[in-house]
Amino acid sequence: MGGDQTSEHSFNPFTLLLSLQCVKFSTKACMTTLWSVGVWEEDNMADLVLQTEGGSGGIVIEDNWPGYSLELFSYPAHYAGDLECVVVPHGVIMDRTERLARDIMDDLGDHDIVVLCVLKGGYQFCADLVDKIKVLSCSSDRTIPMRVHFIRLKSYLNDQSTEDLHILGAEDLSFLQGKNVLIVEGIIGTGKTLKALLKHVEAFKPKMIKVAGLLVKRVPHNTTRLPHYIGFEIPNRFVVGYALDYNEYFRDLNHICVISESGKKKYKI
Ligand code: HPA
Ligand code: MG
Repeated sequence: MGGDQTSEHSFNPFTLLLSLQCVKFSTKACMTTLWSVGVWEEDNMADLVLQTEGGSGGIVIEDNWPGYSLELFSYPAHYAGDLECVVVPHGVIMDRTERLARDIMDDLGDHDIVVLCVLKGGYQFCADLVDKIKVLSCSSDRTIPMRVHFIRLKSYLNDQSTEDLHILGAEDLSFLQGKNVLIVEGIIGTGKTLKALLKHVEAFKPKMIKVAGLLVKRVPHNTTRLPHYIGFEIPNRFVVGYALDYNEYFRDLNHICVISESGKKKYKI
């Protein structure tokens, strides 16, 4: 057996710390979301504890969670002063992604899938998720043959969502017809982007669409359809790192952090 065939899973003190101090696993089944193309209930979105069909709504990070001090972690020196706190440390992201990969394997094992990676913010999560699915495909008797396709969406200027949504690389997705599609997004904020993308992808008549989102923000009056696979449900604050940017900066940061006011000013356009 090759060295990459077993999943390395060591005890992570930050996972424990996070679960003890700031994270409440949601036990409240407040909504049922069924959406394998066309079967979808959109209800009760005012209740901001998220719950998806057959899975969890992700690890809930409460609004009053102050985050970890930056002093506790290493991060690139060029961002000194630009960040307020660490919301999700890199190790915790990796541990959660490993579990999402297992959930995906349980649901989709032995189906061919097309992974649709939403750039740029989704590239790191997508790469790590695909890696972890590959490891599971090597170490179990089930496997998921994957093809990976990239599309690019752009709708944010500074920390504001604009009406101007651009979808690049998605002009002809006719190869998706009859396929099982897994859309992989780094963050779902207002949900407008995901809604537009789903409409676009559905037009190519895939057999099934599932969505994996690393982060879902608790945005008031959000009418978005929730991903099937959610990493973390986070407060409605602008976060950066792990490929999420502010005007193209901070993608080269491993942890998910809150940007400081001086960081916003420094990189504002
Ligand atoms: N950070 C980066 N990109 C985003 C965010 C965010 O908080 N919300 C939506 N796109
Ligand atoms: Mg962005």
